[in-house]
Amino acid sequence: MATIMITGASRGLGLEFTRQFYHDNWKVIATCRDPGNADELNSIGDVNIYPLDVTHEKSVASLADKLRGETIDVLINNAGIIGQREGFGNLNYDIWAEAMETNVFGPMRVAEAFKEQVLSSEKKQMIFITSRMGSITEANPNAYVYRSSKAALNMAVKCLSIELETKGLIAVLFHPGHVQTDMGGQAAPVTARMSIEGMKNQIVALTRGDNGCFLSYDGEQIPW
Ligand SMILES: NC(=O)c1ccc[n+]([C@@H]2O[C@H](COP(=O)([O-])OP(=O)(O)OC[C@H]3O[C@@H](n4cnc5c(N)ncnc54)[C@H](OP(=O)(O)O)[C@@H]3O)[C@@H](O)[C@H]2O)c1
Repeated sequence: MATIMITGASRGLGLEFTRQFYHDNWKVIATCRDPGNADELNSIGDVNIYPLDVTHEKSVASLADKLRGETIDVLINNAGIIGQREGFGNLNYDIWAEAMETNVFGPMRVAEAFKEQVLSSEKKQMIFITSRMGSITEANPNAYVYRSSKAALNMAVKCLSIELETKGLIAVLFHPGHVQTDMGGQAAPVTARMSIEGMKNQIVALTRGDNGCFLSYDGEQIPW
C-alpha cells in the first residue's frame, strides 16, 4: 500500500486530497494545525492525523522525528494562505512576510525535513500546490503578496528538482485551478472534487521525466 502525506488537510483542497486518496486505499498521513477541531477530517475514516504547522520549525522537526522510520511515496505540500489582496500603495509588509513564511518557507521546510522518508519510498514524489498566479509570464498588477510568494515557491522547487534529480526525486508544481474553497470563493468555476481528481490522475502516472514541471490540474503545462 502506497503512503501519501498531506499538509493543510483541515479543509479545502487538503481535505479533498485526503478523502480521495483514502477512498483509493492509500495509507494517508493527514496533517493540520488543529486536529481537535478538524471535524470533517476526523470523520473520513482510518486516516492517520497529526498536528503540523508548516511555519513552526519545531512542529515540522517533531513530526519528521516521529515518522522517522516511515516511507512516504507522495508528499503533498498543500497548506497555503492568500495573504493580502490589496496591491501597490497599500502593501502590508507583515502580511507579506507571513505569506512568504507559509507559502515558501513552509513547504521547503517540510521538504527538507521529510526528504529521507520520500527518497526511501518507491515513488519518491514531492508535489507542491502553487498557483498560476505565480507565473511571471502571466503577471498582472494585483495580489502582489500571493503572486510573489508562489513565484518564489516555483523557483525553490525548480532548484530542488534539479538538485535531487539523480536521487530519483520527482518534484512537481501543480496549479489546482480556481477552486470553490474558502480561499477560492464559492463562485469559483472548479469544484474541489474536480480539481483533486485532475491532479490525482496525473500524480499516479508521474514519471521521472515530469520532474521539475509546472502543471495545471487539467494537464496543461503552465509557462513559468
Ligand atoms: N482555491 C483556489 O482557487 C486556489 C487556486 C490556486 C492555488 N491554490 C492553493 O491551493 C492550496 C490550498 O488552498 P485552499 O483553496 O484549499 O485554501 P483554504 O481553503 O483556505 O485552506 C487552506 C489550508 O491551509 C492550511 N494552512 C494555512 N496555514 C497553515 C500553516 N501555517 N500550517 C499548516 N496548515 C496551514 C489551513 O489550515 P487551518 O484550517 O488551520 O487554517 C487550511 O487547511 C494553497 O496552497 C493555495 O495557495 C488554491
